[in-house]
Amino acid sequence: MKQEKKDRLSYADLKDELLLTEEQIQKRVKEMGRQITEDFRGKDVTAICILKGAVMFFVDLVREIDLPMSMDFMAISSYGSATKSSGVVRILKDLDKPINGKDVLVIEDIVDSGMTLSFLRENLLSRGAASLKIATLLDKPERRRVPLHVDYYGFTIPDEFVVGYGLDYDEKYRNLPDIGVLKPEIYEK
Ligand code: IMP
Ligand code: MG
Repeated sequence: MKQEKKDRLSYADLKDELLLTEEQIQKRVKEMGRQITEDFRGKDVTAICILKGAVMFFVDLVREIDLPMSMDFMAISSYGSATKSSGVVRILKDLDKPINGKDVLVIEDIVDSGMTLSFLRENLLSRGAASLKIATLLDKPERRRVPLHVDYYGFTIPDEFVVGYGLDYDEKYRNLPDIGVLKPEIYEK
């Protein structure tokens, strides 16, 4: 990790080697945006941001998608401990507009057990979306508990608890531009 980053207070809680740097993330997001632009050409796109974790990825990704589109926001919480989700999903803020007939692109931060997105997929398709694709920045395939097809993913990562670039522990670290592994002593204490 570069010294200027170490000097930022929150980085002290991360393992020294960053998992993904700002530069790596931005490069990959551009590639994903190009691919999505090709795949969705001619469609009636609604991009849905899953708050709050996906917010950084969402704002960067949609700026790389060169198509007319609508945006909407949904906030959900999955019950569970601070670092493991239980799969019981609750909608805290629903979409503002109907999505029937729309080609929906769900933008999420990370797929872990897969429970949150498999709930969301069913929920959104039941509202009459014409099609639904999922873009996630991170994928932790080792932890999958339900089968889930992800259409676009940025990076496959090992089974470690990560923070930064939207991802939190106890609502903190979302503002970091990089992604790192949280030192276990932070959540074990
Ligand atoms: P899933 O339902 O188990 O796939 O959980 C997905 C949600 O769990 C994500 O939207 C995140 O909010 C959270 N999550 C899973 N792994 C991590 C992590 O390593 N860091 C931060 N949040 C995580
Ligand atoms: Mg989340």
